[in-house]
Amino acid sequence: MNNIKDFKNLNQKKVLLRLDLNVPLKQGLITDETRINKILPTIKFLLQENSKILIISHVGRPKGKINKDLSLDPICKNLERKINKKIKIIYENIFKLNKKDLFKDTNDQIIFLENIRFYREEEENDPNFSKHLAGLADLFVNDAFSCSHRAHASVCKITEFIPSFAGLQLETEVNALKKVTTEIKKPITCIIGGSKISTKIGIIKNLIPKFNNIVIVGAMANNILSFNGIKIGKSLKEDGCEKIIKEIFDISKKHSCTITCPEDVMVGKSIKDKSKIKELNQITNDDLILDIGPKTINKIKDIIENSQTVLWNGPAGYFENPHFANGSYEIAKTIIKKNKSKSIYSVVGGGDTIAVINQIKAINDFNFVSTAGGAFLEYLEGKELPGIKALK
Ligand code: 3PG
Repeated sequence: MNNIKDFKNLNQKKVLLRLDLNVPLKQGLITDETRINKILPTIKFLLQENSKILIISHVGRPKGKINKDLSLDPICKNLERKINKKIKIIYENIFKLNKKDLFKDTNDQIIFLENIRFYREEEENDPNFSKHLAGLADLFVNDAFSCSHRAHASVCKITEFIPSFAGLQLETEVNALKKVTTEIKKPITCIIGGSKISTKIGIIKNLIPKFNNIVIVGAMANNILSFNGIKIGKSLKEDGCEKIIKEIFDISKKHSCTITCPEDVMVGKSIKDKSKIKELNQITNDDLILDIGPKTINKIKDIIENSQTVLWNGPAGYFENPHFANGSYEIAKTIIKKNKSKSIYSVVGGGDTIAVINQIKAINDFNFVSTAGGAFLEYLEGKELPGIKALK
């Protein structure tokens, strides 16, 4: 994998830079800026080298349709403020753009294209779309480790049409995760939460042979509870996961891996509600499970206490409402305490998990913080991520 920092002469080169600026947005406001902060060194490096930067990113899942709520506009403005430099954003249909017009105004040094997932061709890894994107620049740089598990046009196929390089942040993330997977100390625990059930549930079974404990929290745990015959009311759940869950339990029996799920929960009648502790047999039809309960927190604390390495990906609850953030905060605080006494190696990953630890100002209290969620887990599975493979 060639890194862009080893490229000899970037002066005036048009660099198509794929970033993952998929930051959490609430009514057009960015609620966590970490993913923007992490790519600043790459932008600064390219500016220093006097190249022209054409930025591509996605935010959210617009599924191939224009969705004004998922515009990159606020993210572009935020980056503009951080680097104190004007950035031009192009809303025009990408198919109408061509290379010679893009940096016609010599004052333009950074151009942003609108959310790449407004085009269905992106998620289809469409060759024509990829070729067109490649035709807009001289070089391609992937600095989006956190979406390199997606075989999408601007991550994967594009590399077939243009000289392609890894970005600074991508390399940092890959090196850190490589270190984690080769120098791991056991017992090792993986805590998996969050709401992207379909992305993560299939990964768990491949992680089982590598871990002593897998703790499942967040919306994903609802599927397991439901599988175990617990009534989960109106809680978020994904259909058709029964087969995978059965496999998870069967495989865990074959390996010395303990699967831990919530033993009690915090519920509300809506995501804006206050929280109420419930035993699993007390959940009613109009309840939403939005966090783990105190018994579960204590159990997870014990598991962390007895681990040498902890990897954590995905919040334990709907932390956006402070009434349901306690489970995630307690997990974070327990890991941090062990980290401070140097009795644990900890890695935290994912956009929402980073948002949680930023809320308690603890981003520097872990051994490594990865911007990646799904990509982080797929990397741990031992899979070669399509975006990384494409760079080789
Ligand atoms: C992420 O947040 O993990 C990446 O941006 C990928 O997003 P996705 O799960 O919508 O593909």
